[in-house]
Amino acid sequence: MKRMIIAGNWKMNMIPSAAKAFTEDIMNVLRQRDNKSTVILCPPFISISAVADSIGDMSISIGAQNCHEKPKGAFTGEISASMIADAGCAYCIVGHSERRRDFGENDTLIAEKIRILINAKLIPIWCIGESLEERNNGKTFAIIEKQLTTTLGELKDIDCSDIIIAYEPIWAIGTGLAATPEQAQEVHEFIYTILTGYNLNLPILYGGSVTGDNAASLLALPNINGALVGGASLSVESFTGIVDAANKQLH
Ligand code: 13P
Repeated sequence: MKRMIIAGNWKMNMIPSAAKAFTEDIMNVLRQRDNKSTVILCPPFISISAVADSIGDMSISIGAQNCHEKPKGAFTGEISASMIADAGCAYCIVGHSERRRDFGENDTLIAEKIRILINAKLIPIWCIGESLEERNNGKTFAIIEKQLTTTLGELKDIDCSDIIIAYEPIWAIGTGLAATPEQAQEVHEFIYTILTGYNLNLPILYGGSVTGDNAASLLALPNINGALVGGASLSVESFTGIVDAANKQLH
């Protein structure tokens, strides 16, 4: 049966008190549902504890948005994989296009982060995706292949079977212009094929302007196992609407 994963990337939003109240609101809605999807909230580091305290026994998981590639040491201002694991995270986003763009993260560094996350028993949510220019120049598949093979090439010595991929076309992030189901499906199928060459069968999420309105048509596609949601994850109604759309795929 298909698995559904809905992850909310809050980015740099939600101070701890707001995160606590928001998480409680989400839980109140999900308690009234027969939720069978994996729901992951990804708060900023400072709000992870507030979310962890709020969820208690509820089957909602927490993800961080980033971690440092080294286990510990003199890296002022950084956060390690073991720190986020100890704070209650089971997942961590890695390689988001905003970090690639604003912090110069490349496929090799992303491999180091995935390695440290796997060592810390955290599940990486590994983001890949092409820019508008790359798409317009017909380079989408080449970029996706390079991102996947460069990083996986560095990870040949470890078990990569517990990773989640998130396909996030950069042109769809925060623009309100989600990929069409056809655009998403052809890239997801391509990712699936590349991963098969590495003997990997990983869940592949779609991210980029997912809303309660377009989630159903995207999540119905055969190679889409869920969504990584930005803006719409900051609204209880929108986020739980996306979770509802995911659950419809499972019931
Ligand atoms: P939006 O849903 O706001 O487009 O953001 C997507 C994203 O970047 C999730 O990681």
